[in-house]
Amino acid sequence: MNIANNWKDYEILDMANGEKLERWKDIILVRPDPQIIWKEKTYPKKWEKVNAVYKRSSSGGGGWSYKTKLPESWQIKYKELTFNIKPMGFKHTGLFPEQAVNWDWMINKIKNAKRPIKVLNLFAYTGGATVACLYAGASVCHVDSSKGMVTWAKENVISSKLQDKSIRYIVDDVIKFVNREIRRENKYDAIIMDPPSYGRGASRRGLAI
Ligand SMILES: C[S@@+](CC[C@H](N)C(=O)[O-])C[C@H]1O[C@@H](n2cnc3c(N)ncnc32)[C@H](O)[C@@H]1O
Repeated sequence: MNIANNWKDYEILDMANGEKLERWKDIILVRPDPQIIWKEKTYPKKWEKVNAVYKRSSSGGGGWSYKTKLPESWQIKYKELTFNIKPMGFKHTGLFPEQAVNWDWMINKIKNAKRPIKVLNLFAYTGGATVACLYAGASVCHVDSSKGMVTWAKENVISSKLQDKSIRYIVDDVIKFVNREIRRENKYDAIIMDPPSYGRGASRRGLAI
């Protein structure tokens, strides 16, 4: 397993009782994580400075409980990349910090290719990988079926000052878009796919290849 240990603005402060205590720049959040099966807190004092806690409800959903007033969004940096963080439903913040190892790997591959690289980022969410690939010099086609997520990805691209790079944003179902690209015979050097366990697209069919 590769460990994302190059963060300065993000840190896991402690874990206990199915919950993770995380620092996102200056803001401390508690989020559920079923992998944390032990009960004892290692640093009980650190849990006293929490800004918001995401609590699951017995009916299956959940929500944020705010201990202090939080900005609607705030920025965190990973090396030269800047991301906008917002506490959202389903315990999301708009970023998966553990993905930083993959961003480093992609940046390295693209820079070392020493030729133009075309990336297709499917299920691209708020654009973590998109921002990393643009930064490394690739052109990126960013596909997600959620308009809100694509808008958020644009914000991250702008915050990372990459808006003048070669990027195409597509709000569409991945299956439909990929089938169109196959028909158009559009080719890519790299395809990134991080699908969720439950899709949102209209199409449930496989690729018509
Ligand atoms: C788990 S997130 C991907 C995380 C992302 N790769 C990252 O590291 O930041 C899944 C994304 O897939 C999108 N999505 C789900 N079903 C889709 C579909 N059928 N077509 C396109 N996007 C879809 C969701 O809107 C969501 O943004």
